[in-house]
Amino acid sequence: MINSWMQLENRHEFELPARWKSGDIRFSSELVRHFLAKFTQPGDTVLDPFAGFGTTLYVAEQMERIPFGIEYNPDRASFIRDRLTLKDHLIHGDARQLATYNLPTIDFSITSPPYMQRGDKDNPFTDYQTNDGDYQQYLHTITQVYQQLKPILSTDATVVIEVANLKNANGVTTLAWDIGRAISTVLSFQGEIIVNWDKYGYGYEHSYCLVFNK
Ligand SMILES: C[S@@+](CC[C@H](N)C(=O)[O-])C[C@H]1O[C@@H](n2cnc3c(N)ncnc32)[C@H](O)[C@@H]1O
Repeated sequence: MINSWMQLENRHEFELPARWKSGDIRFSSELVRHFLAKFTQPGDTVLDPFAGFGTTLYVAEQMERIPFGIEYNPDRASFIRDRLTLKDHLIHGDARQLATYNLPTIDFSITSPPYMQRGDKDNPFTDYQTNDGDYQQYLHTITQVYQQLKPILSTDATVVIEVANLKNANGVTTLAWDIGRAISTVLSFQGEIIVNWDKYGYGYEHSYCLVFNK
């Protein structure tokens, strides 16, 4: 049985360099610590397929888990590598090609994916660098990422996706629910944990941790 909600502060253990302060897309270290403590043991492998600035990987190393990550943006990839002990466990690459990276068996995965609002054209999976975005395609693509992850998950692996719905003047994109529904077609949905944050953004002060098994 997993708790259905929790209250957390949206804090990080270190400041990003000044050039990234306005683009701090990290999730909270405390969130990662909570799930690693709950679902993993020292020595377990942990994958973040959308590694960002590397929160999952640093916390995993601190907790003596073995981190792996994929990050598309070259600056963020090299930033992560600089701070990791197991530097070559960060792949500067594309999660859409996950199956090609010879990753080991993965015991646990947690991520916060790049967000997309319905109707946007900027493609989240090229770090918004191309204009070929489409919301249905986005949902299809993220499902394919997890489809590729599935064969390398250990039998009792848990997969967590932290994601919010998005509300602005144009309405609501039910991103969290849509991702939950899409990925449930390839992994077994175990339920959601609502996180109440002291501050968050995207029109809400809460997000969802969607929990899946293989
Ligand atoms: C919301 S951020 C993750 C932040 C991370 N949880 C942290 O705490 O630093 C999503 C990341 O996914 C990356 N990304 C986008 N498309 C990708 C792809 N195709 N493959 C791998 N990473 C990708 C983005 O560059 C961004 O850094």
